[in-house]
Amino acid sequence: MNNPKPKYYLTTPIYYANSRPHVGSAYTTIVCDVIARYKRMCGFDVAYLTGTDEHGVNIERAAEKLGISPADLVDRNQQIFRDLWKLLGISYTDFVRTTEPRHAVAVQNLVRRTQRVSPDAIFKRKYEGRYCIYDNLYVSDTPEPADCQICGRPAELISEENYFFRLSAYQEKLLQLYKDQPDFVQPDFRLNEVKSFVESGLKDLSISRKTIKWGIPWPGDPEHVFYVWYDALTSYMSGIGFVDGEKKDSDRFKRFWPADVHMIGKEIIRFHAVYWPAFLMAAFPDKKSSDYMPGRIQAHGWLLFEQEKMSKSKGNVAYAEPIVKALGNDALRYYLLREVVFGQDGNFSKDALITRYNADLANGLGNLASRVLAMVQQNLDGVVPVLDSVPDPGLMGFGDEVSTSPVLVRAKYEKFDFAGALSDIWNLVARVDLFLAERRPWVQPNNENEKKSRGVILYNALQALYLITPMAHPVIPDATQKIWEQLGQPGKLADVRIDQLQWGGLKPGTRIGKPEGVFPRADKKETLERIEAMENEIRNTGSTQPAAPSADSAPTAPIIAAIGAVAAPVTPAKIGIEDFAKVELRAGIVKSAERIQGADKLLKLLVDIGDEVRQVLAGIALSYAPEDLVGRKVVIVTNLAPRKMRGLESNGMLLAASVGPDGKPVLCTFAEDVPAGAKVK
Ligand code: MSP
Repeated sequence: MNNPKPKYYLTTPIYYANSRPHVGSAYTTIVCDVIARYKRMCGFDVAYLTGTDEHGVNIERAAEKLGISPADLVDRNQQIFRDLWKLLGISYTDFVRTTEPRHAVAVQNLVRRTQRVSPDAIFKRKYEGRYCIYDNLYVSDTPEPADCQICGRPAELISEENYFFRLSAYQEKLLQLYKDQPDFVQPDFRLNEVKSFVESGLKDLSISRKTIKWGIPWPGDPEHVFYVWYDALTSYMSGIGFVDGEKKDSDRFKRFWPADVHMIGKEIIRFHAVYWPAFLMAAFPDKKSSDYMPGRIQAHGWLLFEQEKMSKSKGNVAYAEPIVKALGNDALRYYLLREVVFGQDGNFSKDALITRYNADLANGLGNLASRVLAMVQQNLDGVVPVLDSVPDPGLMGFGDEVSTSPVLVRAKYEKFDFAGALSDIWNLVARVDLFLAERRPWVQPNNENEKKSRGVILYNALQALYLITPMAHPVIPDATQKIWEQLGQPGKLADVRIDQLQWGGLKPGTRIGKPEGVFPRADKKETLERIEAMENEIRNTGSTQPAAPSADSAPTAPIIAAIGAVAAPVTPAKIGIEDFAKVELRAGIVKSAERIQGADKLLKLLVDIGDEVRQVLAGIALSYAPEDLVGRKVVIVTNLAPRKMRGLESNGMLLAASVGPDGKPVLCTFAEDVPAGAKVK
């Protein structure tokens, strides 16, 4: 049977499966989840696709370093992505892995189709140039050394025969597309960047690689594998059932394709706004643009950590799991959407996250809901009052003010102005708080009239909560569902139509549920410590799930001795002596040691390593008193990248054995005399 609802198809980029997700990668997925939930509440039938990008030299090398096969590496990591999406309450409907056979068939068929219907679009020639393996970007078409424009790392030399896509032939067609679909790239300033790039002239693009094995074989020429971006972009089709662009395509593909929005980070805009539409034009020259062209490429900014893009290879990442475990799923979702102005870069700070959590969620919405519901329980027998007289004009004014809000909030959601929508909703929370402070329904009534008036006040507060809860639902799904139930509403809040919300929708006579706090207040110091301890566990051991190191293996271990580390569940791969030689170990003598305010487990040490004195933060405060450490000989890793903790820089790592079930740190030392700075090998 045909679904009468309008369709909406939304995608995240598919994530490189070379390492585990961090808060930056979770950001794109959370944003899409908010849109998907919002659209469903507007009556759309939503397909929401995410997945993992599992091919390429990046993955091949990461696996090699771990001593496992690329297939094992991606199997392991894609599961970590899925687990995190579950933890974050991501309501995706489809998940695609580029190593799935259905995807390989789709990629091969798309190119076969292109060769058939646009015979000039693909040709073979020799390629010589520089390629970045981390971003899979052809950096320059000449052999001279060059750095990647995205990550800044030196690009590798490639010299081989490749299949090429004749991108140069699509310059005018692309410019026409941007004219015909003025919203094709959003925000507008990104469209301008894309247009300038295309206007400056397009070079043909290599879409196969010969020296790599870990990829999808080129049809009829299996010495070649597909360029990972041709492979990855096609996942937006294979993930919902594209097979050949003909009869074999699934009904789901026919219903949902093309995508309404491809959500992406700003650094991958060229692939989506230039290459992808050109690949599609070449594959479907016989079709109307509206039958195959995505509606919009929506670029968001980056989450920054101390002003730099959060990225595993830089070692400046925060992980989502510890935050969710400490404060709940809603806390992270709310913070990211409220704090980052969508489209721009935004800073990530755990400190600010906890502050927002306490101010807006615990003291704000959570406190309002539990106060109102408790008063209704205590004074109105837990029942929404039936008003038997027209409320006084002041109260009616309040209702009018509140009931206009959903329209304004929806307009902001539509524009993807999430921070704006949340700010409006929380202004409303503050408005209800003020209303209660003015009307004081907690004061015991002296007579029947005052009693009625209290009923009217609580009725108004309840109606306001009844509107606020669904409006906040796309962003904080867990707590709002609980408040909804406490308001005595049956069923899933997700099924409520956000575009049909009405003042007075909470029916008089409704019995409300038991009020229960949804956001317990968090002690900042203690919460930060819990989060950091869990983060360290992830960094030290890959957590309970083995995580792969980043492709370039920049040492990202925390520069503290292992605290509470659990045993790694896999035996580490054997390494060659040349790998061990990369680690510089030296003997050091502790010159001073002190506690760090607000961090129970950390000590700040100054360690003499011969030619200099290093500041090192070590997570050993529960095992060692600072005064016992002065004069101690220790072993220190001296060539780890510096790292900041609690605003202090740590510039080295002490070696310690991890003893017993709690992983108690026991410092490595020397039985004989050694000078500070002596090499340990
Ligand atoms: N595999 C490609 C995408 C192929 S889509 C056909 C890729 N993967 S990625 O894992 O590197 O990035 C996936 C998404 O995560 C991108 O949208 C990227 O912008 C986002 N983020 C990764 N780090 C981020 C931040 N620090 N901040 C915000 N988003 C970040 O590119």
